[in-house]
Amino acid sequence: MLTEASCTTRACWRGWAATLTRMSRLSGSETIWPSSGTRTTATTLANRLRPLGSCSSTSEGAGLPLRQRVLTGVRFPGDGRRALAALAENHYLATDQLAAKLGLGEQVRASLRQSYERWDGKGAHGLRGDQIAMSSRLINLADVVEVFRRTGGIDAALAVARERSGTQFDPDLVDMFCQRAPLIFGDLDTAASWDLVIDAEPSLAAVVSGVELDDALAAIGEFAELKSPWLMGHARGVAELAADAGRSGGLPQADVPGLRRAAFVHDIGRLGVSNTIWDKPAGLTRSELERVRLHPYLTERMLSFSAGLEPLGAIAGQHHERLDGSGYPRGLSGDAITSAGRILAAADSYHALTEARPHRPPRSAADAAAELRAEVGSGRLDGAAVDAVLRAAGHRVRRRREWPAGLTAREVEIVRLLVRGLTAKAIAGQLVISPKTASSHIEHIYAKTGVSNRAQLSLFAMKHGLMAEPQP
Ligand SMILES: [Fe+2]
Ligand SMILES: [Fe+2]
Repeated sequence: MLTEASCTTRACWRGWAATLTRMSRLSGSETIWPSSGTRTTATTLANRLRPLGSCSSTSEGAGLPLRQRVLTGVRFPGDGRRALAALAENHYLATDQLAAKLGLGEQVRASLRQSYERWDGKGAHGLRGDQIAMSSRLINLADVVEVFRRTGGIDAALAVARERSGTQFDPDLVDMFCQRAPLIFGDLDTAASWDLVIDAEPSLAAVVSGVELDDALAAIGEFAELKSPWLMGHARGVAELAADAGRSGGLPQADVPGLRRAAFVHDIGRLGVSNTIWDKPAGLTRSELERVRLHPYLTERMLSFSAGLEPLGAIAGQHHERLDGSGYPRGLSGDAITSAGRILAAADSYHALTEARPHRPPRSAADAAAELRAEVGSGRLDGAAVDAVLRAAGHRVRRRREWPAGLTAREVEIVRLLVRGLTAKAIAGQLVISPKTASSHIEHIYAKTGVSNRAQLSLFAMKHGLMAEPQP
């Protein structure tokens, strides 16, 4: 049941991504959106409360209550109740889909169905008392008392638990919670919460890899898109485009799966920025733009909590960086942006341009391609990455030829500059790469061509027609 409670808690919170827009309309606010700290802490708390509910466990009915901050202890007569039932059903369907994709099991899925029930039967679907799954009753209680403890201390948590005992909450659970509250809350704020959750339940430590990991990340990336209708399909489109571009764009084949996975989750940080910004049909204010600039950073931070996902976060966090340093969130430039990051940036940019946004219609494929090429011209996007993305998107892009001695297109570019007498530093500046990288390319060029000075390199270039070819 611990697994059930933990998984249900996490899936339920994610379900709010799907219903947030509608809830915002109902409540006139989006402040209901919980912090990640709340999510994690509520899960931990549900685990700690779990011994209180060991008397029974059923896969039938239960209720993560209405998000406390908006719907505090409210019952829903008439239209309000029907609206809630519809909302709950939508929420359930969204979270159920995610749970199924993540393979969370029938008990978790059944528990999700009961996320809006109340002990007194006045919740979304009218289940009451023992009809509600114990895991859902635990989460219901943990969810609310955690918020009150966070804002008003343990006394506030105890007060709300007692106040709603027998209405929203299972009274037996409330009694047991009140007896042990100091112990249960204990070091909740200082504990490494997810580690604590995983340590407490061995089945949560299952490691996924390969196709399973692909599917899980795809499910998470696509689920995050439910936050706003404008984003639907973006993650999958960018992932497929980036992977195709990576395969044909000179990225080592071993790096392509990582790029595809990073692309699936590159925008999950959008969850940390208000829908009032993402769905705004007009230009953004300066402060709103600052919030937008945070989302790749949030993506990176979210993924950094797992050692296995951290490398994906490093790629995903670069999808709005630009070679000239004008991107965000860090303003990286040149060589600080990885090859995978450059391809992801190009794929994200192209795909976003072809999607509608609240403030503009979708661009045609030709317009999007032209815009990307303009970005290359202004030194913001990488030329090779853009070529690879446009080719993957079906645009006519000059075919890459096989270069002699196994030279890459980038090395041919550098050969031309060397032949023209540029220093390594000047080459680095022209190609927006670091001097160290330029020197490394030059070393490889001499090794591959078997020549030892510029004069010999000029002869090599002339012999193989490197100077006459169009730009690689
Ligand atoms: Fe983004
Ligand atoms: Fe994106």
